[in-house]
Amino acid sequence: METSNRKSVVLFGASSTVAEALADCFAADGYDLILCTRNIDAGNRLATDLKVRHEVNAKVLAFDATDYASHEGIVAECQELLDGMPEGVVLCFGYMADQVESEENFELAQRTIDTNLTGTISICERFAALFATRRSGWIAGLSSVAGDRGRKKNYIYGASKAGMTCYLAGLRNRLHSRDVHVVTIKPGFMDTKMTYGMDLPKALTASPEQAAKAMFKAIQEKRNEAYVLWPWRFIMMIIRAIPEWQFKKMDI
Ligand SMILES: NC(=O)c1ccc[n+]([C@@H]2O[C@H](COP(=O)([O-])OP(=O)(O)OC[C@H]3O[C@@H](n4cnc5c(N)ncnc54)[C@H](OP(=O)(O)O)[C@@H]3O)[C@@H](O)[C@H]2O)c1
Repeated sequence: METSNRKSVVLFGASSTVAEALADCFAADGYDLILCTRNIDAGNRLATDLKVRHEVNAKVLAFDATDYASHEGIVAECQELLDGMPEGVVLCFGYMADQVESEENFELAQRTIDTNLTGTISICERFAALFATRRSGWIAGLSSVAGDRGRKKNYIYGASKAGMTCYLAGLRNRLHSRDVHVVTIKPGFMDTKMTYGMDLPKALTASPEQAAKAMFKAIQEKRNEAYVLWPWRFIMMIIRAIPEWQFKKMDI
């Protein structure tokens, strides 16, 4: 199986705020990039910026996480553009609707699961098969602390990320013997388009650049699960430990 001679990575959801910062980390380290995004204009702007500032190759592909039928073709196109297989892939796309609106409108709930969980499985399974045959590679997915425990304020998005976290754990277990690594990143709050206008606690909110650096490090160090800001690991440990009889009375 062919592998490109240069280091390369495919970013899915490349116009996400944190993906743009992560693309910069990879390009600064000499990686060529394929930027898969619904927003071609934003992808092209990012590609031009990366090429100029870091002298790497960066190409853009149209990608919709819920257009599952197109994914096989996109994976093939990635290999064609790279003249081989990428070293690894990062899944940065995600959709979060308002919780109450999702309770009232099933289409929003379905879109959340279709994007965050089914879209993840559709992309990962294709690369898992290729990387397992090659016996190298890595897959990194941006899941969420929202998936660590269901809360009334965010349980539909949380359910999609819980599914994603569980899926990535199983994939990591399956691919370990094939020398392929899977990293689950649970960022905590990040200051991005997704959280625009929300009143987030400053001390627990990472800037896109701060988050991207932590994610890049977690990928390079082959971590299994990584939080971006360290307090989140302890916060979620406490939240998971609250007994259900008490948790169900809480407003969090
Ligand atoms: N921000 C946070 O506090 C936070 C916390 C935990 C986890 N996360 C996760 O981190 C990841 C990155 O999000 P972000 O914070 O950087 O927010 P963001 O800037 O809103 O990025 C989300 C990206 O997902 C893309 N997307 C949504 N639906 C898609 C679809 N059907 N097909 C292709 N792309 C799609 C959006 O594309 P368009 O640009 O075309 O709209 C957007 O670029 C997401 O998985 C998110 O769930 C975020």
